[in-house]
Amino acid sequence: MKKIVILGGKGQLGQCFRKISSDYDDQHEFIFVGSDELDITDEDAVHGFFSEQKPQVCINAAAYTAVDKAEQEPGMASAINGDAVRYIAEACKQSDALLIHISTDYVFDGETNISYSEDNFTNPQGVYGATKLQGEEYALEYHSQSVIIRTSWLYSEFAKNFVKTMLRLFGEKEEIGVVADQFGQPTYAVDLAKAIMTIINAERKVYGVFHFSNYPETTWYHFAQKIAEITESSIKINSIATTEFPTPARRPMRSTMALDKIEETYGVELRHWETALEECLAEIQMETV
Ligand SMILES: NC(=O)c1ccc[n+]([C@@H]2O[C@H](COP(=O)([O-])OP(=O)(O)OC[C@H]3O[C@@H](n4cnc5c(N)ncnc54)[C@H](OP(=O)(O)O)[C@@H]3O)[C@@H](O)[C@H]2O)c1
Repeated sequence: MKKIVILGGKGQLGQCFRKISSDYDDQHEFIFVGSDELDITDEDAVHGFFSEQKPQVCINAAAYTAVDKAEQEPGMASAINGDAVRYIAEACKQSDALLIHISTDYVFDGETNISYSEDNFTNPQGVYGATKLQGEEYALEYHSQSVIIRTSWLYSEFAKNFVKTMLRLFGEKEEIGVVADQFGQPTYAVDLAKAIMTIINAERKVYGVFHFSNYPETTWYHFAQKIAEITESSIKINSIATTEFPTPARRPMRSTMALDKIEETYGVELRHWETALEECLAEIQMETV
């Protein structure tokens, strides 16, 4: 039985862990921690928390995730996505706890046609990606038992995300435009939570950076079209170019990640993003009836 602390316990991924935790609660004890209970940017509080709780595993799902707002708040983004990860890594080292830290495909510039592997050159295009890369570096530098998982295009039945935004727009509008020239891999956050549990339960640990998402790549436009098809929405979706939808933060044009390392090392199961999307939409539908 391992004591597993989940920082960011009230965020999207945190809520997915809450959902699946009952499948594992005969094996592990889960402690969900929100920002109201522990501010991860408070170094003393982080150390105090770890000294008191003494977890065997810490999943850091806490982050500053407002990609565009980060351009105006680089200090806060860096404090949460960068410095705080150092405090957490140091506290994990002192407690001899495994650290599973979540990162992002936005550490890449997206200027390539190959799928990024874990050791490919990083070159974040905005503050969010740069601060997440800083966090990765701190985790690896300050604690040798760190597993970094980069994921992409996260969605679920919880919190705010692309799928839920589309469902809302389908109900409000007759026609929308969605960007069709950015490529990436959507990830059902429940699948990510299960992949992390596979790593925690693995007898032999391999540390370092891993990629996890659903596959294969798609565009936001095709992703939106699939949501409309599955939900039988009559919305008209127009494909638009990134240049027609300017945002404060520059995003990678193609951030598709190679997934073979996590599959081969940990035996993590991968699945098609359309299958995962169908499951998520069924969950959302069940919640609304
Ligand atoms: N969402 C995506 O599309 C995406 C894509 C790739 C990677 N990721 C990564 O995946 C991870 C999980 O993302 P998510 O979608 O679950 O994010 P989320 O829903 O925004 O949750 C992040 C959580 O972090 C907490 N947090 C923020 N500042 C904190 C602080 N100072 N102290 C303690 N907690 C704090 C937030 O709490 P409050 O709400 O109370 O502030 C929130 O509950 C993150 O590392 C993110 O960078 C996300």
